[in-house]
Amino acid sequence: MKLQNKVAVVTGGAMGNGYGIAEVFLKYGAKVIILDNSEQLGASLQSLKKPNNEVYGFQVDIRNMVMVKSCMEHIQNRFGGIDVLVNNAGVARLSKFEDMDDEMRDFHFDVNIKGTWNVTKAALPFMKSGSIVNLSSVTGPMVADVGEVAYATTKAALIGFTKSLAMELVEKHIRVNAIMPGYIQTPMVDGIAKETNAENPEMVIQGIAMGIPMKRLGTVEELGELAAFLASDESSYITGQGIVIDGGSTLPETMSVGV
Ligand SMILES: NC(=O)c1ccc[n+]([C@@H]2O[C@H](COP(=O)([O-])OP(=O)(O)OC[C@H]3O[C@@H](n4cnc5c(N)ncnc54)[C@H](O)[C@@H]3O)[C@@H](O)[C@H]2O)c1
Repeated sequence: MKLQNKVAVVTGGAMGNGYGIAEVFLKYGAKVIILDNSEQLGASLQSLKKPNNEVYGFQVDIRNMVMVKSCMEHIQNRFGGIDVLVNNAGVARLSKFEDMDDEMRDFHFDVNIKGTWNVTKAALPFMKSGSIVNLSSVTGPMVADVGEVAYATTKAALIGFTKSLAMELVEKHIRVNAIMPGYIQTPMVDGIAKETNAENPEMVIQGIAMGIPMKRLGTVEELGELAAFLASDESSYITGQGIVIDGGSTLPETMSVGV
């Protein structure tokens, strides 16, 4: 199995993409440790737990460096090191730039950028080699919708973080890559749909699907399979890259040309 006995830390694994990543990693034999601040963590750990797999969790806010460091020390003591880090935890709220207060801006910057920074900084002393996977997005580096300035800024920042860190960690044999998803069906996307149309969020989801060449949103399992590939030795010659997984959503050049 491609992740047999690898110790993998996954942030934000209580739901959504992180849950899918944890599930797929466990399928491939990894020992998975989830860091998440949600109260749903306990229930998620229960449903991920199967005979012959190892999954653990810490209820922690990745903005809290003291707590994050303490988690990493626990992981080091229990498992003897970390092979894979997936910086998946993230937040997205819609607000137009001119209406957005600094609190909303900082919420995005603190979780998506500084949280990723914290977890990486705290995990690195315990990584002798391995793979770091950061959840960026097509939103920011490639495309954007109205109300996404704060979110898009953070997701573009993670591409710079990925490339620069990849250069620094080559010598330690740690690869650093980013995943750039289009729309994946998760609670975050349900939240965006509700913010867009509180009365009929399902219509928003259907609208998103119609704009994607594959006519559907991605699943967390599909996202998890890409994360597993980047985490595994199968991707041993890939570093510093952002890999798009979007059902072709960033592909169309026009809405009108075609025979
Ligand atoms: N779903 C998509 O379409 C999509 C597209 C592109 C990128 N992404 C990225 O994928 C990642 C996961 O997104 P998702 O859609 O699964 O989101 P989600 O909201 O469904 O799940 C996010 C998880 O992160 C956790 N989390 C949030 N803030 C945290 C904090 N401060 N400390 C610890 N845990 C925290 C939440 O509790 C939750 O379990 C995010 O980085 C997001 O930007 C998602």
